[in-house]
Amino acid sequence: MSEKILIIGAGGQIGTELTIKLRELYGKDNVVAADINSGSNELMYSGPFEILDATRKDDVKKAIKKYKITQVYLMAAMLSAVGEKFPEKAWSLNMNSLLIALDLAKDGLYKKLFWPSSMAAFGPTSPKKNTPQETIMDPSTVYGISKLAGERWCEYYFQKFGVDVRSIRYPGIISWKTKPGGGTTDYAIDIFYKAVNHEDYNCFLSEHTRLPMMYMDDAIKATVDIMQAPSEQIKVRSSYNLSAIDFTPEEVYNEIKKHYPDFKVNYVPDFRQQIADSWPQSIDDSVARKDWNWNHSFDLEKMTKDMIKNLSN
Ligand code: SER
Repeated sequence: MSEKILIIGAGGQIGTELTIKLRELYGKDNVVAADINSGSNELMYSGPFEILDATRKDDVKKAIKKYKITQVYLMAAMLSAVGEKFPEKAWSLNMNSLLIALDLAKDGLYKKLFWPSSMAAFGPTSPKKNTPQETIMDPSTVYGISKLAGERWCEYYFQKFGVDVRSIRYPGIISWKTKPGGGTTDYAIDIFYKAVNHEDYNCFLSEHTRLPMMYMDDAIKATVDIMQAPSEQIKVRSSYNLSAIDFTPEEVYNEIKKHYPDFKVNYVPDFRQQIADSWPQSIDDSVARKDWNWNHSFDLEKMTKDMIKNLSN
């Protein structure tokens, strides 16, 4: 049977590019993009599109039935920085949408769920360097708490009800197509926009703040790979550590300067500094590499070239 895919939160930073990739792989009519807001023309007119609120169970159920969906990618979420401004909203969106998706899978409405967790599920006392797959997790943001709780729910639904749910802990994702909304790693995207526009950049993190990062192409590849892997290879049913590169604002600035020698950055840390300081600096993802052959291909230099090329166009 051919797959019928529903992407909830398809208008977001990752959802947009995931929709395009999945339409290439599975055929445009087999991939339904859904979002609470209307999206770009590319998203809305390259295949079926539905306006959908991920926290309304009946509506999600209706969409799954209407298109005879077999797989759901739940990409709707409120990110770390904006989540601190609206804690209740962040908790209710991030948790309720997941519980709805898990419940509908448990009831047999569709077969396979992808749900993203994040490095934000780690916290101040988790090991900072090469953070292992299994370790202390004490997230200090509402976003991180919702991701850790979500991971436990995923494992629970797999163990108790056999729900085929798959998840990865994304690091900061760098991309040029759709801007992220309200994350702590957004600086690493904003900085490129400023450089390409020949403007100075006021960076909201300090120059030596090291964080795990990944280029969008690698993130999409990981997402597709984990969903296509045979079920028995997915041994972790909470969420897999995933990593590619790690860098500081100063390091990405120095890389960009190779292309824009006059580019200037000022460091003016705000409340997001504390969030960044609570997260890992680098991640050990050897379990994902072993279980489903994960591999990244973009390093800082290659990513910088590609970002600049695409943003200049
Ligand atoms: N990029 C996310 C954020 O900054 C982390 O998962 O909130």
